[in-house]
Amino acid sequence: MKFFLDTARVEEIKEALEWGILDGVTTNPTHIAATGKKFREVAEEILALVDGPVSLEVVSTNWKGMVEEAKDLVKMGENVVIKIPLIREGVRAVKELTELGIKTNATLNFSLSQALMAAKAGATYVSPFVGRLDAVGEDGMGLVEKIKLMLDNYGFQTQIIVSAVRHPMHVVEAALIGAHVSTMRFDIMKQLFEHPLTDIGLKMFLSDWEKVPK
Ligand code: E4P
Repeated sequence: MKFFLDTARVEEIKEALEWGILDGVTTNPTHIAATGKKFREVAEEILALVDGPVSLEVVSTNWKGMVEEAKDLVKMGENVVIKIPLIREGVRAVKELTELGIKTNATLNFSLSQALMAAKAGATYVSPFVGRLDAVGEDGMGLVEKIKLMLDNYGFQTQIIVSAVRHPMHVVEAALIGAHVSTMRFDIMKQLFEHPLTDIGLKMFLSDWEKVPK
């Protein structure tokens, strides 16, 4: 499974790169706004740091506008992936961008039918927002499972990015399902390393090591 960091904060990206397990970054307008910087300034900072896929989201709501934005954004780097919302206009934009050889991330996915449309349009990635579905009493990871089955049924090449991850168990369940990518907040990626029994066991080993004759 690939790990993407869901942020636009370069200080988080820099620290996660030190861990040696970061494969890419996803951003969205909310993340960009949180930095207080201009979009292209943030995008350039991130692209200068990350070799893997970096998702940058368009803000047009008609397919022609989305395609024009995408053509502009991909000039920023070969690893730019264009995030397109899964509205009807977005599906047409994904289709157009696929034909142009531009990688896309079909985002704001909340249903299997939307994910099927994204795959049919040739989306590189589809991003089911599991935490937001859970929050309204639906089964976010259940959707991921169905998307994986659908993709396998037809041999679609679209990859699943499990998104709106709220805790490490979303990542664990994603791995058991065979989802291709989990994108997560910095604090959640940090939690993946942590277990109290490991800390207790290491403390005991090091304490006992002190008793070993040197
Ligand atoms: C990832 O690409 C999404 O933009 C992100 O996971 C959104 O989820 P959240 O804002 O609900 O955490």
